[in-house]
Amino acid sequence: MADERDEIRARIDIVDLVSQRVSLKRSGKNYTGLCPFHDDRNPSFYVDPTMGRYRCWSCGESGDIFDWVMKTENVDFAEALQSLAQRAGVTLRARSNATPPSLREMYRTAMAEALQFFREQLASHSLATDYCSQRGLDGATIEEWEIGYAPNVGEALATHLKRKGIPLAEAKGLFLVDEDASGGYYDRFRSRLMFPIRDEKGELVAFGGRLLGDGHPKYINSSDTPLYRKSRVLYGMNKARDHLSKARTAVLTEGYLDVIACHRSGVKGAVASLGTALGEEHAKLLKRWCDQVTVLYDSDAAGQKAAERAIDVLQAEGLRVRIALMPSGEDPDTLLKTSGPEAVSKAASKGVTPIDFRLSRLEERLSHEDEAFWDEAVAILGASTQHLEVDRHISRLAGVYPGYRDISAAQRSLSQRIDSVRRKGSPQGQRPVSRAAPEHRAVQAALLSHELVIFRALYETSFQSFVWIAVVGQQEIFATQPAIELAQAIAKAFPSEPPTGPPSGWIHRIEPESMRVLLTDIAQDLRASNVLEDTLIDAIGFLRKQAEQRKIREERQGERSQAERQEILNRLRRLNVEEPSEPKDDEEDPFA
Ligand code: UTP
Ligand code: MN
Repeated sequence: MADERDEIRARIDIVDLVSQRVSLKRSGKNYTGLCPFHDDRNPSFYVDPTMGRYRCWSCGESGDIFDWVMKTENVDFAEALQSLAQRAGVTLRARSNATPPSLREMYRTAMAEALQFFREQLASHSLATDYCSQRGLDGATIEEWEIGYAPNVGEALATHLKRKGIPLAEAKGLFLVDEDASGGYYDRFRSRLMFPIRDEKGELVAFGGRLLGDGHPKYINSSDTPLYRKSRVLYGMNKARDHLSKARTAVLTEGYLDVIACHRSGVKGAVASLGTALGEEHAKLLKRWCDQVTVLYDSDAAGQKAAERAIDVLQAEGLRVRIALMPSGEDPDTLLKTSGPEAVSKAASKGVTPIDFRLSRLEERLSHEDEAFWDEAVAILGASTQHLEVDRHISRLAGVYPGYRDISAAQRSLSQRIDSVRRKGSPQGQRPVSRAAPEHRAVQAALLSHELVIFRALYETSFQSFVWIAVVGQQEIFATQPAIELAQAIAKAFPSEPPTGPPSGWIHRIEPESMRVLLTDIAQDLRASNVLEDTLIDAIGFLRKQAEQRKIREERQGERSQAERQEILNRLRRLNVEEPSEPKDDEEDPFA
């Protein structure tokens, strides 16, 4: 596999490939052009033919020819490999476990026939159409989501498929029919509202069926089949993905009708895992189109527990997570019905950070008097890499930390406990993924987290003038050398007015290039921790205070040496000794 990839890479000129979409100009050994991944007005995109890679200074997209095809054509790796292999004239070795094309074609036909059958049945069963209207599913929604009905007849679909020439043994493998003891076939789904499940490419791969009323099981979902792996498919992804590639934030819900309700409410990035908990492969799938996932689960105990799990799974893939629990007793579907689409989109837009979510759950469960509360709180905070947010919680919790009257002593004690948890090591997977190159990461690491926040905020249009004032007007707040240099570079590029709009329009003004690269890399970590207004204000406040303390310390040092000098002179006078000349290091101190 690896050598096939290398062979394709060697045969395809990345400049040719990219030029199909972006007009490129030569610039030294590289080529530059307008970035196709964001609204670029000044060329911030470049292609490096020797490395075979592209990269945007401004939005941070980067990759090789495979990434390029995956991103620009919204396809997965296998599809990108196929298309590039064809372009390069490389024949891919057939994978031994692949389904032969003719069989796959037959599976597809069987699924399409089943879907058509279910959809036709819906129209002719008033029980089913009544249920739809009771659930608020109008004609357009039924059409859009291809909702159907499996009638309460033992082998209606089996008969239909047989008539269409589908071998029922194969239909069984697709979870459409099952076999009884006597070798006859009967329908898997009976008397159920049918939801077709399409994968991210839109291919029909499975079904979910809901009972029209109460009963058990409420839903039946296809098990894994030659076309379907439930661990890899998210319901709604085929409709959400184009939206996600722009909006970058997905909304994760619990069920079919929740996804549908969200989309109907304008929450177009909604998806759900089906009949299975969210797993690693779901998170990887999300990662292909977005950077953030808002978990919109029920607020009951089961929903909260599932949210806990989802946080870990999503963060492990480097996704930023927000938790937006539904009002108690509601899910997006019921909320749409009772309170309308705005209520749903509002619920989906409000999310708290994983730390906020976990600490507030903990505070509901245990009291501050309880030692177990502090053990768990310290574990939660120690596991997080969001240092600014952790600091905020330390300040807040110090006020209720038992056994300390002095808040700063409480803060110190809490910080120490958290540090010791950190030292024991947080799981690798929890670390946010930085896309910066290693050498830049090292420079970045030299900056204080508060400084990083400020520079990051320069990329958020709503904060630009605010940050500009801090950077240009109060350069003394920066404490580390790279931050001071970067602040100077920004001040030089924008001496009289703040940068406005997307960075592509102004990043080129930052000189020298090393500072431009540093700023771009810092800003890319935006994906790992977004800048909230509070965080920004906290950061500036913190640095200002530190700078003031620095100044006071320096002044005091000056004062003290003055005072000390005076004291020495007094003592010398008392001893009738002459004032010493500049003391030398090797000289013994006469007053020690
Ligand atoms: P819920 O029980 O919350 O149902 O299950 P729901 O989505 O709100 O459905 P309605 O509104 O009662 O019709 C959430 C999801 O869990 C899966 C389904 O995917 C469902 O949408 N589930 C639930 C099953 O797979 N089987 C079940 O028996 C129940
Ligand atoms: Mn529901």
